[in-house]
Amino acid sequence: MHPAIAIDGPAASGKSTVAKLIADRLGYTFINTGAMYRAVTWYMLEQGIDPADTDAVLAALPSVPLSFGKDGSRSIVLCNGSPLTEELTRQEVNDHVSTIAAIPEVRSLLVNRQRDYNRQEPVVMEGRDIGTVVFPDTPFKYFVTASEEVRAARRAAEGLTDSIAERDRKDSSRATAPLAQAQDALLVDTSDMSIDQVVNFITDNIQQKL
Ligand code: C5P
Repeated sequence: MHPAIAIDGPAASGKSTVAKLIADRLGYTFINTGAMYRAVTWYMLEQGIDPADTDAVLAALPSVPLSFGKDGSRSIVLCNGSPLTEELTRQEVNDHVSTIAAIPEVRSLLVNRQRDYNRQEPVVMEGRDIGTVVFPDTPFKYFVTASEEVRAARRAAEGLTDSIAERDRKDSSRATAPLAQAQDALLVDTSDMSIDQVVNFITDNIQQKL
């Protein structure tokens, strides 16, 4: 098995930015799992399916024309062969992604694809349940967070289109694979750290264990 670096944490914790930089540093592929949940959400909305109508989502799920690939050293999601980009950060996707991500069948479909990436190569994978569910046996688990104050400031900088606090609440309280720090994950509080410091700290820790 190739190394799998699990980076979890709430929204606005800075984990995407650092995960990508750590992947570059190590020469591993960066996998953004949030994009996968966002893609399923976008597709359901495109089909006029109400994300809260679980039966309708489950009926459509087997024929979702999404595929999960790579563009250089990072993961991408394709719909009918075309990469999805701006679609994934639309307001309506922000508003409904936590509802779609709470459906166990959606999660198991995507978790299987996430594990497929690591069958091919080493990965730095970022999400909410990577250390708890996707790679429970990896020795490389990091839970990246920041104080309420710092996260609020980062939220403000991201604009008002994403109700991050509401997503975190839903993601933390769902029954299946909630956002949580794995018992054996290293907690990295980035409140008073620069991006460089976080990347150095995690990369050093990984290299000590490799
Ligand atoms: O990482 P990002 O903020 O783009 O994730 C969007 C949403 O996807 C999260 O709020 C969560 O509902 C869902 N998600 C998840 N499990 C993951 C990654 C993302 O449930 N591993």
